[in-house]
Parts: sequence; structure tokens; C-alpha cells
Amino acid sequence: MDVRDAILNRWSAKKYDRNRPLSPDVVRLLLDSARRAPSSYNDQPWHLILGLNFDETHSRILETLSQYNRGWAKDAPMLAILVARVKYTFEDRINPAHQLDCGTFWGFLNVQASGMGIMCRGMGGFSPSLAREIFEIPEGYEPLMAFACGYPLEDPNQKPRRKIEEFVFAGRFGNPIVWEEE
Ligand SMILES: Cc1cc2nc3c(=O)[nH]c(=O)nc-3n(C[C@H](O)[C@H](O)[C@H](O)COP(=O)(O)O)c2cc1C
Repeated sequence: MDVRDAILNRWSAKKYDRNRPLSPDVVRLLLDSARRAPSSYNDQPWHLILGLNFDETHSRILETLSQYNRGWAKDAPMLAILVARVKYTFEDRINPAHQLDCGTFWGFLNVQASGMGIMCRGMGGFSPSLAREIFEIPEGYEPLMAFACGYPLEDPNQKPRRKIEEFVFAGRFGNPIVWEEE
């Protein structure tokens, strides 16, 4: 599928087919595309705790979710917690882009998934401290978000987006860009 179509078709599904597991090959493909994301100094600060097809890790990730998110995410065959390494690997200083880089990684994963008919939904509604405890995430690593992926069992629900001119400025912040005629 064309990248543009994969982007246009993507949405954050909330109803997943628990009878359609994600094969390890498919998940490895998603992760292979995600790891090609750009990152500060190519330091690739992303890490995942991955629960697949209702295994033990899947049920332990469910425990970390808010009650609301647990209600729908339980049927998604893939659940993950995205964890950032906060400092660079090559220097003892904070990587100011650790969250940004992990977000890009997650964005790449979403687009690859969408191109294969698989949808994902991010979850800020989880307990980072419980995730740290359950999965023994060490100091210096930050659980950023949980997310679910799987084949959707609902019609696409495309949400509205802000107009380009509302967030692209020229001259000074807040001054909407004016496109020159070709
Ligand atoms: C960082 C982040 C946290 C989110 N947290 C939740 C959440 O806790 N529960 C939920 O149902 N959706 C959550 N979402 C999904 C967003 O609500 C969704 O992406 C947004 O409404 C845009 O819709 P779309 O992804 O379908 O275009 C989250 C998304 C992101 C990126």
C-alpha cells in the first residue's frame, strides 16, 4: 500500500478482533519499520515491553492500564509499553529528544501497521510506576505510554484535524503562512 494511503487509512481503533492473532513475523515487520525512524545521534532510545496474543506479558500490561483502557484493550492481541532511555548511550547526559525519538518510532510503527490493515491506539492512561515495578524497569528508563495493536472490528472513525495554516507560521509565531502562487 502507498504511504499516503496508509496514513489516510489510519485511525486509533478501540474494538479489536481477539480471534485474529498477530504472527511473530508480522510483529517483527512492524518493529523493523519502526526502528528505521530517525533519532538524535541515531541513539535509538526506544524500548518495548511486548505482550503478544494473550500471553503472560499481555495480561501483566493490562494490569497497568486505567480501568477505562483495560475495558477495550483486553481484546487487542498486542499490547506494549514504550520505554525511553533518558540519557545518551555514549555520554553521561540527558538526551533532550528521548521522548520525541520514541514518538517518531511509534509513528513509524503506526503507519506500517495501517498499511497492513492493523490499527493501534496509544494509551496515556496507564501507571508508569506500576509498569516500572512489574517489569523491573531500571532507573534512567522512562515508561512513556502503553499501546494496543490488532485487526479492527469496527468501521474507521476519522477525527478532525486542524488546518495547516493554524499551525504553520512565517515571519513570527502566530503569523499564518501565505503560500506563493506557482
Ligand atoms: C500519547 C497518546 C495518549 C493517548 N491516550 C489514550 C488513552 O489513554 N485512551 C484512549 O482511549 N485513547 C488514547 N489515545 C488516542 C487518541 O485519543 C487518538 O489518537 C486521538 O483521538 C486521535 O485519533 P486518531 O488516532 O484516530 O486519529 C492516545 C493517543 C496518544 C498519541
